[in-house]
Amino acid sequence: MLIHIPNVLDAAQVAQCRAALDSAEWVDGRNTAGYLSQRVKDNAQVPDVHPVARQLGDMILGILEKHATFTSAALPLKVVPPLFNRYAGNQTYGRHVDGAIRPVTGTPHRVRTDLSATLFLSAPEEYDGGELVVEDTFGPRSIKLPAGDLVLYPGTSVHRVEPVTRGARLASFFWIQSMVREDSQRTMLFELDNSIQHLGRDVPQHPAVVQLAGLYHNLLRRWADA
Ligand code: NI
Repeated sequence: MLIHIPNVLDAAQVAQCRAALDSAEWVDGRNTAGYLSQRVKDNAQVPDVHPVARQLGDMILGILEKHATFTSAALPLKVVPPLFNRYAGNQTYGRHVDGAIRPVTGTPHRVRTDLSATLFLSAPEEYDGGELVVEDTFGPRSIKLPAGDLVLYPGTSVHRVEPVTRGARLASFFWIQSMVREDSQRTMLFELDNSIQHLGRDVPQHPAVVQLAGLYHNLLRRWADA
């Protein structure tokens, strides 16, 4: 399942990120790529231990913790602290898969990358190219979102970032270990939750709302690791 979550950051929060990232030191993104991905990766990143990355990452995770759609879609158990990247001057990230397990720098913790997230920090009109292309079972999906919007996609997907031929594309990216490992099960829970919310709004007194909520939680109990 690929989900677009609009307006995770408002315009002021995007501006705050952009100003902080302007003052950060950027390094070659190949530093954090595996040996296969290094051959196709060409971008710049803020080092994960950089105070700007930590400060902005905490802000983003604080917002997502309270975000109903993100929580329902991802059912997050653990999240890798957000990283920040920039593509300009024909930089690109060719077809690759993300590693299944991500260490968290400076800690003994590891995160299984069930879901990948990209939070766009540049407006689409600021750059040409730079689409995130995710190879779905329905074919390739090309994603270029307004600044402040987030896309969640399965960590299992082959994906790439098209060359940025004008301007610069800034984004935050991170991985989520979900309480529900299987994408198909997570998708069903998300659809069921959305249906219950919809029914609860339209027919709040209907007894099926409580029954369906019970069904949701019984499935979650069966499938989730907490
Ligand atoms: Ni990737």
